[in-house]
Amino acid sequence: EKGGYEHFMLKEIFEQSKSVLDTMRGRLLVDEGVIKMAGIWDHLERLTNAERIIIIACGTSWHAGLIGEYLIEEFARVPVEVEYASEFRYRNPIITSKDVVIAISQSGETADTMAAIKLAKEKGAFVYGICNVVDSSIARVTDAGSYTHAGPEIGVASTKAFTAQLTILSLIAIKLGNHNGNLGKADFMRLITELDAIPKKIEEVLNSVDSVVKDIASKFVNATNFLYLGRGYNFPTALEGALKLKEISYIHAEGYPAAEMKHGPIALIDENMPIVIIAPKIGHYDKIVSNVQEIKARKGKVIAIINKGDTQVASMADHIIEIPETSECFSPILASIPLQLLAYYIAVERGANVDQPRNLAKSVTVE
Ligand code: F6R
Repeated sequence: EKGGYEHFMLKEIFEQSKSVLDTMRGRLLVDEGVIKMAGIWDHLERLTNAERIIIIACGTSWHAGLIGEYLIEEFARVPVEVEYASEFRYRNPIITSKDVVIAISQSGETADTMAAIKLAKEKGAFVYGICNVVDSSIARVTDAGSYTHAGPEIGVASTKAFTAQLTILSLIAIKLGNHNGNLGKADFMRLITELDAIPKKIEEVLNSVDSVVKDIASKFVNATNFLYLGRGYNFPTALEGALKLKEISYIHAEGYPAAEMKHGPIALIDENMPIVIIAPKIGHYDKIVSNVQEIKARKGKVIAIINKGDTQVASMADHIIEIPETSECFSPILASIPLQLLAYYIAVERGANVDQPRNLAKSVTVE
């Protein structure tokens, strides 16, 4: 059932070109120039007229939500807030019937997310679910929703569910922007064509980086700390990379927006600190270049995720992992794959139980 892989996690990492394609199947129709999603189509007005969209989730799903905020605000220009379900439910949040809540949950059973949904519904908000497990509690309690269709995720560390969530959020953001006129026809076509190419690019990443990442991992098995840095859309990718490492290898790791480095974490940097920096040639690339210079001036060990052919960051980094180019908004899907593999290989070399890390459960049904 592990399909020849040593662990479910590795199998699920390698399934991602297929699972992302499954998420898009029947929904992203490039030739017809449309995005077809029943859950969204049935409630287009409700969604595009929302005064505010509030995304609630926990853990990895919350990281997907942060990227969802960037996507929806950029393409649909609807204000978005992202909250941990556990905070939202207990802080008496301001929420009205003009708000739309998007709840994201792989398992569809997370207790805090469930309680946050109930609260939002009581206050009259329209609640849209993004779940992976079909017919799960959250899928049933929400007003509408979309399944991610990533297939069963057995490894406790979420991998393919995360990239599927990013795919759904991309589809929703582009669809809403197309509908409310914030996204012109040409941009819409460019984005859906780019998104359509993602499964092939995931395959390219999986084929080209596996042995590179495994080799890098072997050099950091005894590290006690890691920093993960990224900017823009890849700030949440950095958070997710750090979470993957923490939960399965038990190495302390923190994710930060790269520019926040000088507000504190830079004090941690010395020759013993590995820093994973997500640096594709997009967005604020020149800023990332100066972040890498600042790290190298303090002798930090840089593991950089860059685009193929990049030389500027490559010439300064201690280790490089190359991924294909794509639009900034889709780059977290590609960049998170080497981060999953890095956490996986480090954990395996440390002898950790990667599929069932200590103290963790696949569905957190208690708060
Ligand atoms: C991380 C992980 C957890 C879950 C979190 C939410 O790899 O698996 O952080 O993401 O418990 O779970 P769901 O998405 O099922 O609500």
